[in-house]
Amino acid sequence: KSIGTGYASGKIILMGEHSVVYGEPAIAFPFSGTGIQATIRANKLESWIESSFFHGPLSKAPNTMRNVTILLWQLVKYFKIPEPFYLKIESSIPAERGMGSSAAVAVAITRAVFDWMEEPMTQKKVLHFVNQAETVAHGNPSGIDATTISGTEPILYQKGIGFQSFQLNMDAFLVVADTGIKGQTRKAVRDIAQLMELRPYETNKQMQTLGKLTTQAQQAVLQNQPHILGDCMNQAQGLLRLLGTSNRQLDHLIETALENQALGAKLTGGGRGGCMIALAEDETSGRRLQQILLDAGARNTWIEGLGVYAHV
Ligand code: MEV
Repeated sequence: KSIGTGYASGKIILMGEHSVVYGEPAIAFPFSGTGIQATIRANKLESWIESSFFHGPLSKAPNTMRNVTILLWQLVKYFKIPEPFYLKIESSIPAERGMGSSAAVAVAITRAVFDWMEEPMTQKKVLHFVNQAETVAHGNPSGIDATTISGTEPILYQKGIGFQSFQLNMDAFLVVADTGIKGQTRKAVRDIAQLMELRPYETNKQMQTLGKLTTQAQQAVLQNQPHILGDCMNQAQGLLRLLGTSNRQLDHLIETALENQALGAKLTGGGRGGCMIALAEDETSGRRLQQILLDAGARNTWIEGLGVYAHV
């Protein structure tokens, strides 16, 4: 095939970020509001990357793109690709905002190379490559981003155990707002690991409570109980703040949402910047919330119906 293409959407963690690293369950779904398109073809002289972040020869790619360069190297080795290539990456996922841009770039590239090589793809094969890239990007990833993004449905994920797909079936809307500040997933994950050493009893208890809240939240989603989900989100945010993963801008957007009829609000993803999510009773209040959050300083907002997957 002369050209290979691959697409991957972003992801939203509804409940369970950070505690998922310690074996607790988490809920996440592919987020159709944003995505990454990768296109690959042969090139004459040398391998070349074209992206908004970096464009130039692969050999000169910056260290911050090590996840991509290592992934490409693995794919070249696996497919025994003999020739230089030209890879174009187009993204609408804001980088480092808890939306899984690093996993999405890896999934999109892997899919593009499989398409180019005309090799049938399974989620398992894609994950094999993507998980390696994620380890480079995040240090100690739980695997939730890669698993969510390489699939098509909401999942309940547990590290080391696997995932279960389920349907979102709720008459409610989720508003996502970007603080515009780069999150610090890697650092937040490391700091929590330190807390775990310093105060193991207390920190473990907090992780377990986050896990219980995730299980309650899943029941609420399955039984279409938005108020209970909202309550779980608020309690999770309280704990995430205690664990040091929130920050001033996230707190500000979360408070603003709660003052304006959101049923619940919390950070999503690694935290310390990045995005927050707020639960709205219906589309009208969700759209109103989007505007209010923009006025309160959000860089960008999205809205997603939590019942959409029920109809796919
Ligand atoms: C990042 O999207 C989610 C975290 O729980 C880290 C991980 O699971 O690897 C913060």
